[in-house]
Amino acid sequence: MQRCETPAALRAALAGRGGRVALVPTMGSLHAGHLRLVERAREAADVVVASVFVNPLQFGRGEDYACYPRALEADAAQLGQAGADVLFAPSVETIYPHGYPPATTVQLAGELVDSLEGAHRPGHFTGVATVVNILFNLVQPAVAVLGEKDYQQLCVIRRMVADLGLAVEILGQPTVRAADGLALSSRNRYLGAVERAVAPRLYQALRALAERLTAGQRDFTALERQAVAGLRTAGFAPDYVAVRDPQLRAPAERGPWVLLAAARLGGTRLLDCLRVGAPAVNG
Ligand code: PAF
Repeated sequence: MQRCETPAALRAALAGRGGRVALVPTMGSLHAGHLRLVERAREAADVVVASVFVNPLQFGRGEDYACYPRALEADAAQLGQAGADVLFAPSVETIYPHGYPPATTVQLAGELVDSLEGAHRPGHFTGVATVVNILFNLVQPAVAVLGEKDYQQLCVIRRMVADLGLAVEILGQPTVRAADGLALSSRNRYLGAVERAVAPRLYQALRALAERLTAGQRDFTALERQAVAGLRTAGFAPDYVAVRDPQLRAPAERGPWVLLAAARLGGTRLLDCLRVGAPAVNG
Protein backbone atom coordinates (compact mmCIF):
# COMPACT_ATOMS: atom_id res chain seq x y z
CA MET A 1 0.00 0.00 0.00
CA GLN A 2 1.29 3.43 -0.97
CA ARG A 3 1.04 6.24 1.56
CA CYS A 4 0.49 9.81 0.35
CA GLU A 5 0.15 13.07 2.20
CA THR A 6 -0.13 15.57 -0.65
CA PRO A 7 -2.29 15.92 -3.76
CA ALA A 8 0.85 15.62 -5.93
CA ALA A 9 1.87 12.34 -4.28
CA LEU A 10 -1.71 11.09 -4.58
CA ARG A 11 -1.83 11.94 -8.29
CA ALA A 12 1.49 10.16 -8.82
CA ALA A 13 0.27 7.09 -6.93
CA LEU A 14 -2.90 6.93 -9.02
CA ALA A 15 -1.28 7.79 -12.37
CA GLY A 16 0.34 4.39 -12.77
CA ARG A 17 -2.82 2.45 -11.97
CA GLY A 18 -5.59 2.00 -14.49
CA GLY A 19 -9.26 1.26 -13.88
CA ARG A 20 -12.04 2.34 -11.59
CA VAL A 21 -11.06 4.09 -8.37
CA ALA A 22 -13.02 3.69 -5.13
CA LEU A 23 -12.67 6.06 -2.18
CA VAL A 24 -13.33 5.13 1.45
CA PRO A 25 -13.29 8.45 3.32
CA THR A 26 -12.59 8.07 7.06
CA MET A 27 -11.40 10.04 10.05
CA GLY A 28 -9.15 7.15 11.07
CA SER A 29 -8.97 5.27 14.34
CA LEU A 30 -10.30 2.42 12.30
CA HIS A 31 -12.43 -0.54 13.38
CA ALA A 32 -14.00 -3.56 11.67
CA GLY A 33 -16.78 -1.38 10.23
CA HIS A 34 -14.25 0.70 8.27
CA LEU A 35 -12.48 -2.44 7.07
CA ARG A 36 -15.79 -3.75 5.75
CA LEU A 37 -16.06 -0.51 3.72
CA VAL A 38 -12.62 -1.23 2.24
CA GLU A 39 -13.70 -4.79 1.34
CA ARG A 40 -16.81 -3.41 -0.37
CA ALA A 41 -14.67 -0.88 -2.23
CA ARG A 42 -12.40 -3.73 -3.36
CA GLU A 43 -15.42 -5.50 -4.85
CA ALA A 44 -16.62 -2.33 -6.60
CA ALA A 45 -13.39 -1.01 -8.14
CA ASP A 46 -9.88 -1.78 -9.34
CA VAL A 47 -8.04 0.69 -7.12
CA VAL A 48 -9.00 1.42 -3.51
CA VAL A 49 -8.01 4.71 -1.88
CA ALA A 50 -8.72 5.15 1.83
CA SER A 51 -8.41 8.64 3.27
CA VAL A 52 -7.69 9.37 6.91
CA PHE A 53 -8.37 12.98 7.83
CA VAL A 54 -9.85 14.35 11.04
CA ASN A 55 -11.75 17.27 9.54
CA PRO A 56 -11.90 20.27 11.90
CA LEU A 57 -14.66 21.89 9.82
CA GLN A 58 -17.25 19.31 10.85
CA PHE A 59 -16.68 19.66 14.61
CA GLY A 60 -18.56 22.31 16.55
CA ARG A 61 -17.20 24.43 19.35
CA GLY A 62 -16.83 22.32 22.49
CA GLU A 63 -16.88 19.05 20.50
CA ASP A 64 -14.11 16.46 20.51
CA TYR A 65 -11.88 17.61 17.61
CA ALA A 66 -8.76 18.04 19.80
CA CYS A 67 -9.12 14.67 21.53
CA TYR A 68 -10.62 12.69 18.62
CA PRO A 69 -8.62 9.41 18.61
CA ARG A 70 -5.76 9.45 16.11
CA ALA A 71 -3.88 6.22 15.33
CA LEU A 72 -2.35 6.62 11.87
CA GLU A 73 0.27 3.86 12.10
CA ALA A 74 -2.26 1.27 13.31
CA ASP A 75 -4.73 2.51 10.65
CA ALA A 76 -2.13 2.10 7.89
CA ALA A 77 -1.36 -1.47 8.98
CA GLN A 78 -5.06 -2.39 9.02
CA LEU A 79 -5.78 -0.73 5.67
CA GLY A 80 -2.87 -2.55 4.05
CA GLN A 81 -4.15 -5.87 5.35
CA ALA A 82 -7.72 -5.09 4.26
CA GLY A 83 -6.55 -4.53 0.68
CA ALA A 84 -6.39 -0.75 0.26
CA ASP A 85 -3.96 0.28 -2.48
CA VAL A 86 -3.41 3.87 -1.41
CA LEU A 87 -3.68 5.64 1.93
CA PHE A 88 -4.21 9.38 1.61
CA ALA A 89 -3.53 11.06 4.96
CA PRO A 90 -3.33 14.81 4.36
CA SER A 91 -2.76 17.59 6.92
CA VAL A 92 -5.25 20.36 7.63
CA GLU A 93 -2.99 22.71 5.60
CA THR A 94 -3.17 20.33 2.62
CA ILE A 95 -6.94 20.10 2.62
CA TYR A 96 -7.44 23.81 3.33
CA PRO A 97 -4.32 25.26 1.61
CA HIS A 98 -5.47 28.88 1.48
CA GLY A 99 -6.15 29.21 5.19
CA TYR A 100 -8.52 27.77 7.75
CA PRO A 101 -11.48 28.08 7.84
CA PRO A 102 -11.80 28.02 4.05
CA ALA A 103 -13.57 30.86 2.25
CA THR A 104 -15.53 28.39 0.13
CA THR A 105 -17.77 25.74 1.63
CA VAL A 106 -20.50 23.42 0.40
CA GLN A 107 -23.70 24.24 2.26
CA LEU A 108 -26.91 22.31 1.76
CA ALA A 109 -30.24 23.82 2.76
CA GLY A 110 -33.51 22.39 4.01
CA GLU A 111 -34.93 19.83 6.37
CA LEU A 112 -32.37 17.17 5.40
CA VAL A 113 -29.55 19.17 6.98
CA ASP A 114 -31.50 21.21 9.55
CA SER A 115 -33.08 18.25 11.37
CA LEU A 116 -31.69 15.51 13.66
CA GLU A 117 -27.86 15.78 13.61
CA GLY A 118 -28.09 19.14 11.87
CA ALA A 119 -30.26 20.54 14.67
CA HIS A 120 -27.89 19.29 17.37
CA ARG A 121 -24.63 20.00 15.53
CA PRO A 122 -25.10 23.27 13.60
CA GLY A 123 -22.64 23.52 10.70
CA HIS A 124 -21.69 19.84 10.93
CA PHE A 125 -23.00 18.89 7.51
CA THR A 126 -21.38 21.92 5.86
CA GLY A 127 -18.08 20.60 7.21
CA VAL A 128 -18.82 17.08 5.98
CA ALA A 129 -20.04 18.14 2.52
CA THR A 130 -17.09 20.50 2.05
CA VAL A 131 -14.40 17.96 2.93
CA VAL A 132 -16.06 15.13 1.00
CA ASN A 133 -16.28 17.38 -2.05
CA ILE A 134 -12.57 18.29 -1.69
CA LEU A 135 -11.67 14.59 -1.34
CA PHE A 136 -13.76 13.75 -4.42
CA ASN A 137 -11.90 16.46 -6.38
CA LEU A 138 -8.49 15.21 -5.26
CA VAL A 139 -9.10 11.47 -5.65
CA GLN A 140 -11.59 11.59 -8.59
CA PRO A 141 -13.22 8.32 -7.54
CA ALA A 142 -15.86 6.54 -9.61
CA VAL A 143 -17.37 5.22 -6.38
CA ALA A 144 -17.27 6.14 -2.69
CA VAL A 145 -18.22 3.77 0.13
CA LEU A 146 -19.72 5.06 3.40
CA GLY A 147 -21.32 3.44 6.44
CA GLU A 148 -25.05 3.50 7.13
CA LYS A 149 -24.57 4.15 10.84
CA ASP A 150 -24.22 7.82 9.90
CA TYR A 151 -27.37 7.50 7.85
CA GLN A 152 -28.14 11.21 7.65
CA GLN A 153 -24.57 11.90 6.49
CA LEU A 154 -25.03 9.29 3.75
CA CYS A 155 -28.25 11.02 2.62
CA VAL A 156 -26.55 14.44 2.69
CA ILE A 157 -23.63 13.21 0.58
CA ARG A 158 -26.00 11.57 -1.91
CA ARG A 159 -27.93 14.85 -2.15
CA MET A 160 -24.75 16.87 -2.66
CA VAL A 161 -23.64 14.48 -5.42
CA ALA A 162 -27.04 14.76 -7.13
CA ASP A 163 -27.30 18.56 -6.78
CA LEU A 164 -23.76 19.23 -8.02
CA GLY A 165 -23.88 16.61 -10.78
CA LEU A 166 -20.80 14.81 -9.45
CA ALA A 167 -19.88 11.60 -11.29
CA VAL A 168 -19.46 9.52 -8.14
CA GLU A 169 -21.58 6.51 -7.24
CA ILE A 170 -22.28 6.42 -3.50
CA LEU A 171 -22.49 2.99 -1.86
CA GLY A 172 -23.88 2.67 1.66
CA GLN A 173 -22.80 -0.26 3.80
CA PRO A 174 -24.78 -1.82 6.68
CA THR A 175 -23.60 -1.02 10.19
CA VAL A 176 -21.15 -3.47 11.74
CA ARG A 177 -21.97 -4.28 15.37
CA ALA A 178 -20.25 -5.78 18.38
CA ALA A 179 -21.66 -9.13 19.57
CA ASP A 180 -23.92 -7.29 22.06
CA GLY A 181 -25.35 -5.07 19.31
CA LEU A 182 -23.41 -1.85 19.90
CA ALA A 183 -22.69 -0.18 16.56
CA LEU A 184 -18.93 0.01 16.03
CA SER A 185 -17.65 3.58 16.23
CA SER A 186 -14.27 5.21 16.78
CA ARG A 187 -15.87 7.10 19.67
CA ASN A 188 -16.71 3.83 21.52
CA ARG A 189 -13.19 3.94 22.92
CA TYR A 190 -14.24 6.94 25.05
CA LEU A 191 -16.63 4.66 26.98
CA GLY A 192 -15.65 3.50 30.47
CA ALA A 193 -16.41 -0.12 31.47
CA VAL A 194 -19.77 0.69 33.09
CA GLU A 195 -20.84 2.87 30.15
CA ARG A 196 -19.74 0.21 27.68
CA ALA A 197 -22.06 -2.27 29.43
CA VAL A 198 -24.99 0.18 29.10
CA ALA A 199 -24.21 1.36 25.53
CA PRO A 200 -25.95 -1.55 23.67
CA ARG A 201 -29.26 -0.31 25.12
CA LEU A 202 -29.27 2.33 22.39
CA TYR A 203 -29.58 -0.40 19.75
CA GLN A 204 -32.04 -2.29 21.97
CA ALA A 205 -34.23 0.84 22.10
CA LEU A 206 -34.29 0.95 18.29
CA ARG A 207 -35.05 -2.76 18.11
CA ALA A 208 -37.95 -2.34 20.56
CA LEU A 209 -39.27 0.57 18.52
CA ALA A 210 -39.00 -1.54 15.35
CA GLU A 211 -40.98 -4.33 17.00
CA ARG A 212 -43.77 -1.90 17.94
CA LEU A 213 -43.95 -0.64 14.36
CA THR A 214 -43.98 -4.18 13.04
CA ALA A 215 -46.77 -5.00 15.49
CA GLY A 216 -48.87 -2.23 13.95
CA GLN A 217 -48.37 0.76 16.23
CA ARG A 218 -48.44 3.98 14.20
CA ASP A 219 -48.39 6.88 16.66
CA PHE A 220 -44.86 7.80 15.59
CA THR A 221 -44.52 10.72 18.01
CA ALA A 222 -45.63 8.62 20.97
CA LEU A 223 -43.24 5.84 19.95
CA GLU A 224 -40.35 8.30 19.70
CA ARG A 225 -41.19 9.77 23.12
CA GLN A 226 -41.42 6.32 24.66
CA ALA A 227 -37.99 5.39 23.28
CA VAL A 228 -36.46 8.66 24.55
CA ALA A 229 -37.94 8.03 28.02
CA GLY A 230 -36.56 4.47 28.05
CA LEU A 231 -33.10 5.73 27.14
CA ARG A 232 -33.25 8.33 29.95
CA THR A 233 -34.15 5.59 32.41
CA ALA A 234 -31.18 3.53 31.17
CA GLY A 235 -28.82 6.45 31.93
CA PHE A 236 -28.54 8.18 28.53
CA ALA A 237 -29.12 11.85 27.77
CA PRO A 238 -30.91 11.41 24.42
CA ASP A 239 -30.80 14.11 21.73
CA TYR A 240 -33.45 12.39 19.65
CA VAL A 241 -35.08 9.18 18.58
CA ALA A 242 -36.79 9.58 15.23
CA VAL A 243 -38.88 7.52 12.83
CA ARG A 244 -38.41 8.65 9.22
CA ASP A 245 -38.85 7.36 5.72
CA PRO A 246 -35.64 6.24 3.91
CA GLN A 247 -35.15 9.78 2.50
CA LEU A 248 -35.50 11.15 6.06
CA ARG A 249 -38.89 12.69 5.40
CA ALA A 250 -41.94 12.22 7.62
CA PRO A 251 -42.69 8.50 7.98
CA ALA A 252 -45.38 6.85 5.88
CA GLU A 253 -47.99 4.66 7.59
CA ARG A 254 -46.94 1.61 5.55
CA GLY A 255 -43.18 2.10 5.90
CA PRO A 256 -40.46 1.40 5.08
CA TRP A 257 -38.87 3.30 7.95
CA VAL A 258 -35.48 4.34 9.19
CA LEU A 259 -35.09 4.67 12.95
CA LEU A 260 -32.40 7.07 14.09
CA ALA A 261 -31.09 7.84 17.56
CA ALA A 262 -28.40 10.01 19.12
CA ALA A 263 -27.72 10.06 22.83
CA ARG A 264 -24.97 10.95 25.24
CA LEU A 265 -23.68 8.39 27.67
CA GLY A 266 -21.41 10.17 30.11
CA GLY A 267 -19.14 12.24 27.89
CA THR A 268 -19.65 10.11 24.77
CA ARG A 269 -22.19 10.88 22.08
CA LEU A 270 -23.44 7.71 20.39
CA LEU A 271 -25.40 7.41 17.15
CA ASP A 272 -27.33 4.47 15.80
CA CYS A 273 -29.71 3.70 12.99
CA LEU A 274 -31.94 0.79 12.04
CA ARG A 275 -33.85 0.19 8.82
CA VAL A 276 -37.25 -1.47 9.16
CA GLY A 277 -38.64 -3.10 6.08
CA ALA A 278 -36.50 -0.74 4.01
CA PRO A 279 -34.48 -1.77 1.01
CA ALA A 280 -30.76 -0.96 1.19
CA VAL A 281 -30.16 2.74 0.75
CA ASN A 282 -28.33 1.85 -2.50
CA GLY A 283 -31.41 0.17 -3.88
O1 PAF B 1 -17.91 9.60 8.59
C1 PAF B 1 -16.78 10.11 8.69
O2 PAF B 1 -15.82 9.51 9.13
C2 PAF B 1 -16.59 11.56 8.24
O3 PAF B 1 -17.71 12.33 8.49
C3 PAF B 1 -16.15 11.68 6.77
C4 PAF B 1 -17.23 11.17 5.81
C5 PAF B 1 -14.86 10.92 6.53
C6 PAF B 1 -15.90 13.16 6.42
O4 PAF B 1 -14.91 13.71 7.24
